[in-house]
This record gives sequence, structure tokens and C-alpha cells, in this order.
Amino acid sequence: MEGPAAASSSSIFGAVVLGFLCLFVGPSLAAEDPPANDGLCALILQPLGYPCVEYTVETKDGYLLTLQRVLHGKVASREYHGLPVFLQHGLFQGGDTWFLNSVEESLGFVLADLGFDVWVGNVRGTRWSHGHITLSEHDHAFWDWSWQDLAMYDLSAMLKYVYNETNSKVLYIGHSQGTIMALAAFTMKDTVEMVEAAALLCPISYLAHISSKFVLRAVSMHLDQMLLSLGIHQLNFRSNIGVEILDSLCDGFVDCGNLLRSITGDNCCFNASRVDYYLQYEPHPSSTKNLHHLFQMIRKGTFAKYDYGWWGNLKHYHRLSPPAFDLADIPESLPLWMGYGGNDALADVTDINRTINELRSKPQLLFINSYGHIDFILSPNAKDDVYGDLMRFLGSAKGFSSY
Ligand SMILES: *[C@@H]1O[C@H](CO)[C@@H](O)[C@H](O)[C@H]1NC(C)=O
Ligand SMILES: *[C@@H]1O[C@H](CO)[C@@H](O)[C@H](O)[C@H]1NC(C)=O
Ligand SMILES: *[C@@H]1O[C@H](CO)[C@@H](O)[C@H](O)[C@H]1NC(C)=O
Repeated sequence: MEGPAAASSSSIFGAVVLGFLCLFVGPSLAAEDPPANDGLCALILQPLGYPCVEYTVETKDGYLLTLQRVLHGKVASREYHGLPVFLQHGLFQGGDTWFLNSVEESLGFVLADLGFDVWVGNVRGTRWSHGHITLSEHDHAFWDWSWQDLAMYDLSAMLKYVYNETNSKVLYIGHSQGTIMALAAFTMKDTVEMVEAAALLCPISYLAHISSKFVLRAVSMHLDQMLLSLGIHQLNFRSNIGVEILDSLCDGFVDCGNLLRSITGDNCCFNASRVDYYLQYEPHPSSTKNLHHLFQMIRKGTFAKYDYGWWGNLKHYHRLSPPAFDLADIPESLPLWMGYGGNDALADVTDINRTINELRSKPQLLFINSYGHIDFILSPNAKDDVYGDLMRFLGSAKGFSSY
């Protein structure tokens, strides 16, 4: 079992590295502005009968982000009385991630059908949020950010918008990078004040015990520094060549289930017959600087800001090393829930234990031994395995004792 798996993962890795190298030099599909009716609402939600509106939110550093809002389900259930809930996707994903399975299975639809007022975040650089007031995505400066900027600028701008529009504190649900953004942002008083309670799927803050073979190999090969030194600032699998490579990986000598597995761990419940559909929307672009920041954390075992090196740190932070985020700065009064899996190669149980120990509050925990990183979003059984528990937590945080 080890033999063929190891062989295919090293050739996948070779192909992906090759893909990276070719595709950033070649023309990018994502460079074309999609037409206005090409948003997530028009593509997925409205055709299925869900009332969906899009808003543009400007961050303090000039990025133009799209928020989708699903006001209620197909039948307007009042069960949850229009409580605003905000969904924040993970790395290489976009707001579509919450709507990619059937309406009975996907968290976004499930929430809308229960009567939540569902708001969907999309970070800078994704297909749905690729605007900026002065920069274009062809500029290096457009890609000069990592997850700490997503926490400090994107998340705070999006939550402020929802908080103001709904006149209500927001229930937060994040997955993966959407949890590291939250844990960093919730250490900031003006952001956490807008949040009623937070549910974190595959929570990430420390990355010291990551076990993903694919990621560990990329870290040891210094893929991040290699890309930066080649002047490649955008990580985009969806260029002409990137799509071809992903297609050939999926149709050819290895299936996408395996590629996904070598990156994220064993997903118990991945529906391989939906891969073509998933690939219509994902992966989304991110920045090489973001990858570099995450790799720094894997190498150093820290939950800290981006490391610019001594001189850069002096300039940016007025100290030699980047400041760490202190999880104890998250108020004890913020109700937290965490769902995590025994087969998750990215959000490792040892790292999650450390996160839990450093928090002031005691989060409610849901551990599912058979679940991997992607199951929490895409498992057809997640509604029964995860979302019921999550919903009871959200309900109880809002004082709905019956849930
Ligand atoms: C807050 O919401 C109100 C009502 O929707 C809107 O008129 C106003 O422009 C919003 N303010 C900000 C800062 O978003
Ligand atoms: C898996 O995906 C296929 C293709 O979209 C779909 O027909 C099937 O219902 C899915 N299975 C589950 C259990 O959701
Ligand atoms: C994580 O913490 C729980 C509860 O303290 C403990 O039972 C478990 O063994 C820990 N797991 C790891 C991998 O450290």
C-alpha cells in the first residue's frame, strides 16, 4: 500500500510544482473579469430557489470583497427567527464551499432552510472577491498579504458590514483558514464585540504537528521561498495550464480523492462522483505570501504574525521577532464550539489541544474519529454527524433552550 501511494504522491507533487511554475508564467484565466451576473448567487443559489443578494464591502486597505446573503430558505422557516450567521471558508476555497453538495447536505442551505439569515464571506483574491480600489490582480502588491491581513482587514470589514446591516451580533462559523482568521481576529476587542458565538470546524492556530505528507514535503522543499524568489506572488491553480494539470491528475493516473488525501488526510466520506462539479468552483487563488506565512508556522511551531526577518520585523513591528497572537486575549465570555476529526492531516489533535489549553474559555467539543479535513464541509453525512450539534450550540448561545 505504501509503495504505489508514495510513488503517486511524489509524482503528483512533481506535477503540481511543475504546474505552479508553468501556470504563473502563462496567461491566467482568472485575469478576465467575470460578467456581473456571474456571481455565486446567480450561479448556485437562485437557480435552486434561494433568495440571494450580493453586497460589496471595502476593506481599510482597499480590497473590494463580495458578501452573499441568503435571507431565508426556499420555504421561509421562522425556526431560527432570522438570526444572522456568518460563514467563513478556508484556504483555496470560496463562499461556494458551503453550497457544493445537495440542499439537504450543505451547511449553507441547511442554515437557510432553518430560518437563519445566512451571510457568506469571501476573502481577497478568491473568484468572488478579486477587486481593489487601485490595484489589479496583475500587480504584485495585490497579492502582498497573508492570513493575518485576512483577519485584521477582511474579517473586520465583513463582520462590521453584517453587524451594521442586521443590527445584531453575529454567529460565526469558520472552516480551517476561516478559523485561524477568527482566532486571530477575536483577540481584537473591536472585532470580537460583534460576535455572539463562534463555531470552528477544523480549528487551526498552531501547525506544529501537521501530518500531511504533501504539505510536509512542500515545506522541506521550500516551495514557498522558491515561488517567492521566482517572483510568483499569486497561487492560482485555475489558469489554462493549472486546469489541465488538475484535470489530468483527476482523470488520469491518480484520482482526485488521492490528491486530496495526500493534502488533507483521509476523508471518510468524500463523494468522488462530485469532483467535476467541485472543480467548477474550487480551488480559488490565494497568495504565495500566505503560503509562506503558514509554512513559517509549521517550521517554527508558532501562532504569530508574518516573519519578515530581523530588519523587516523592526520596520513592521518595531521588534526583532514577529509578535505572537495570545489566545488568552479572546474573552472568556465568547461561547466557542469546535468540531475536529481524527483523520485530519492539517488540524492535528495535538495542536488543537494546545489551542484549547491556551483559551480562557472551555469550548464545546465535537470529535469525530473517522473525519478528515474536508468531511466537515463536504461529507454527505455531515448534517447528522456535525451540523445538528453545531446548530444546538448556536441556538443555545442565543438562548434557544430547545435546541
Ligand atoms: C449601516 O446600515 C445602514 C442601514 O442599512 C446604512 O444606511 C449605512 O450606510 C450602514 N453604514 C455602514 C458604515 O455600513
Ligand atoms: C454523490 O454525487 C453524485 C453526483 O453528483 C450524486 O448523484 C449522489 O447523490 C451523491 N451521493 C451522496 C451520498 O450524496
Ligand atoms: C488531547 O486532549 C485530550 C483531553 O485532555 C486527551 O484525552 C488526548 O489524549 C489529547 N490528545 C493528544 C493527541 O494530545
